Amino acid sequence: MSIDIKIREIAPARVQTGLLAVPVTDKGLGEGLAKRLDRQLKGRLAALVKKSGFTAKSGSSLLVATHGVMPAGHVLLVGLGKQDEEESPHAWRVAGAVAAREAGRIWVDEAVFMLPPDRQTGMVAGAVAEGALLCAYRFDKYRSNGRRNGVPRTLVVGRNASGGSAALARAARQARVTASAVCLARDLVNEPASTATASYLSEQAVAHCVGEGLKVEVWGKRKIQQMKLAGLLAVNQGSREEPRFLHMRYRPKAKPRRKVALIGKGITFDSGGLSLKPPRSMETMKLDMAGGAAVIAVMSALPKLAPDVEVLGLVPATDNLPDGGAQKPGDVIRYLNGKTVEVMNTDAEGRLILADALLLAAREKPDCMINLATLTGACIVALGNELAGLFSNDGDLAETLTACGRDAGESLWRLPLPAEYREDIKSQVADIKNVGAGSAGAITAALFLQEFVDDVPWAHLDIAGPAFAGKDRVTCPKGGTGFGVRTLLNFLSCTGD
Ligand code: BES
Ligand code: MN
Ligand code: ZN
Repeated sequence: MSIDIKIREIAPARVQTGLLAVPVTDKGLGEGLAKRLDRQLKGRLAALVKKSGFTAKSGSSLLVATHGVMPAGHVLLVGLGKQDEEESPHAWRVAGAVAAREAGRIWVDEAVFMLPPDRQTGMVAGAVAEGALLCAYRFDKYRSNGRRNGVPRTLVVGRNASGGSAALARAARQARVTASAVCLARDLVNEPASTATASYLSEQAVAHCVGEGLKVEVWGKRKIQQMKLAGLLAVNQGSREEPRFLHMRYRPKAKPRRKVALIGKGITFDSGGLSLKPPRSMETMKLDMAGGAAVIAVMSALPKLAPDVEVLGLVPATDNLPDGGAQKPGDVIRYLNGKTVEVMNTDAEGRLILADALLLAAREKPDCMINLATLTGACIVALGNELAGLFSNDGDLAETLTACGRDAGESLWRLPLPAEYREDIKSQVADIKNVGAGSAGAITAALFLQEFVDDVPWAHLDIAGPAFAGKDRVTCPKGGTGFGVRTLLNFLSCTGD
């Protein structure tokens, strides 16, 4: 389901629409549009605000029927939070989503979101559009009964005569591209694992990653063997499905200012392997390719956004299953760079396949590399489901990513890479082992990855928590969230500035 976003000059008092959304801050109806509409509605808005205790918190709204007093059928006050939060794109993204959701709830086909006169900017219009598009996402291809709630067909972002329409239209276009990338990542995560195999992921990448400057290579088992991707082969041993290694590259038309490598964990189903997970822990393990899905989705958007950055996208993909050929605890893997790893726990498989990809990426000496992975339950224990763990060997990279995440509405929280804990991944028989001492599991996993990054500026995002929503949110229903896509797209459009 998608909403048609339009930018139009609107006279709020005269516009004929199902729902007219008006953003307000905690300063109340103020002297702006909300106040004028309140006068037109003979004080009913102010009265309802008082009666309902509406405080304009971000995510809140207040719906008022106009009963023919004005051409718009309903007025919806949409909370932006504190006045200073007006500067945050995410407050506007949530506001756009709330407007779309409320319009859907009352089954109107078209709604107008009126930009305040002093907020006729691309940032605001784009964020509102993006929020509405994200809110309309559904994964309902396997549902035989009808829609549970509506989505408006059209959202008009209303500007006044002075609003620069070209900048707003550009922002709306960008929002469409970003939102469809996020929705692609969600679709890939939500697709059941028996369909969404490694070969399915690569077909989807080939289908979606098209356009000027973008190339996709799919490496099959033979090529993976030739390239000596030992970690991917080891994890794949227990599966009937062949592995794939996705090698994607975007080259801008002009000389690139920087080269960035993105790496995503593509475990299409994580049973744990011989170190089998208990049933409850396996229920959502189709999510374990969310990092890979985010990387594919980001790559797919690049021809349309055309950043002047070269981007290498790598996704090792396989499921992690325990058949007769499966790798066994105690097995040793020898990596491309000669490093040996003792596999103590086959459920710590993500780091094994990421190691191959980090090695390959590091050989290209990119300006930086970023990997996304649903890597550890320990990261969920530490940070919960809203924040991703951020680990980095580079302070500037960590800061830039955190800022890009904040604007994207995706919170990253930096965790340390303490040298003291390196002891915990030492092995008796090999150079290192794939599990730590039992505590600080998110950190020891990150320290393991760091063994494969050389001195390239690198960041690891442990997205185990936020990749999959356990409850509906205004910008995303339960299930795959597409976490990381917006942060990375922000990052790629701002790097080098
Ligand atoms: N895919 C899991 C991590 C995970 C857990 C993601 C829950 C999302 C939700 C990962 O492969 C895993 O199994 N990690 C183990 C590591 C342990 C064996 C060292 C974990 O976190 O328990
Ligand atoms: Mn696992
Ligand atoms: Zn896993």
